[in-house]
Amino acid sequence: MNGAIERFDDRARRRVGAYGRTMVRENELVRHPVYTRVLHWSVAIFFILALLSGFAIYSPWLYRALTPLFGGGPTTRLLHPWFSLGFVIFFAFQILNWLEPMTWTSDDRRWMKQVKSYVTNKEPVEPEYVDFFNGGQKLYFWAIVASAVVFLLSGFPMWFPKTFGRITVDIGYVLHDIAALVMLVGFIVHLYEGTGAQPGTFQAMTRGTVERRWAWTHHPAWYRRATGRDPRTDYEQARQRSSRPPDPTARTDLK
Ligand code: HEM
Repeated sequence: MNGAIERFDDRARRRVGAYGRTMVRENELVRHPVYTRVLHWSVAIFFILALLSGFAIYSPWLYRALTPLFGGGPTTRLLHPWFSLGFVIFFAFQILNWLEPMTWTSDDRRWMKQVKSYVTNKEPVEPEYVDFFNGGQKLYFWAIVASAVVFLLSGFPMWFPKTFGRITVDIGYVLHDIAALVMLVGFIVHLYEGTGAQPGTFQAMTRGTVERRWAWTHHPAWYRRATGRDPRTDYEQARQRSSRPPDPTARTDLK
C-alpha cells in the first residue's frame, strides 16, 4: 500500500479507535478492532437504507409499502442517491482498512476448488492455509468493490439525466439493476454466514472478539499467527477433552 495512504489509514484507525473499547475475555482473540466495526456498521446502515429506498423506487408494488419510511415518494427519490453515496464513502475507507487481508492469493484459489466441502460442512475444521478471511469472504468483498464502481458510474447519469443524455441513462438503468441483483444475493448469503451459519461469528462484528475455538476452526492460519500455537493440536486436544467422561471428583464451583 502507498505510504501516504497507509499513514492516513493508521491515523483514522487510532482516532476512531480511541472512542471505543474491545473487551477480551479469557480464551478469546481480538478479531475486529473498533475502527473496523464502526466502518462495517456504517456501511451496513447506508447500504440497507439505499437498498430499501432503491426497492421503493424500482417496484410499483413495493412503492406504497416502503416510501412512507422515507417521507413519501419524492423524498425517497431525493434521499436514495445520498444514502448510496454514504455507503460508497464508508466502504472506500473499509477498502483501505482491509486491502491487505483481502488480497487474493493462490490459497484462495485452492479454497475455491474445495468450496463444495465448505458448503456441505464435510470437514469439522477449515484447511490449515485459511488465513484471516477465506476465499468466499474475499470474493464477497471484491464483488462489493466492483458493484460500488458500477453503482457510481451508472448512478450519476440517472441522477443527472439532462447532463448525460438518454442513451447513457438507459444503459445506466440496466447496469444499476445488475449490480443491485449481485449485491442482494451476496448480502443474503453474507447475512446467513455472519449469523446463523456459524455460531460465534456475529460477536466478531459486535464485541470485536471471537473464541479461540472459533479461530482454529474457521481461520487456522490466522490462529497460528495470532497465538503462535498449532491449530490442529489445539483442536484435537479440545475434541479429546469434550469426549472424555466428566471427572466426578472435579470441583464444578471453580469453573
Ligand atoms: C446487516 C447485517 C449484517 C450482518 C449481521 C453482518 C455480519 C458480519 C460479520 C459477523 C462479519 C465478520 C465475519 C468474520 O470476522 O469472519 C462481517 C464481515 C463483513 N461484512 Fe458484514 N454484516 C452485515 C451487513 C453487511 C453489509 C450491508 C455489507 C456490505 C454491503 C457487509 C460487508 C461485510 C464484509 C465485506 C465483511 C468481510 C468479509 C466477510 O466476512 O464476508 N456486511 N459481517
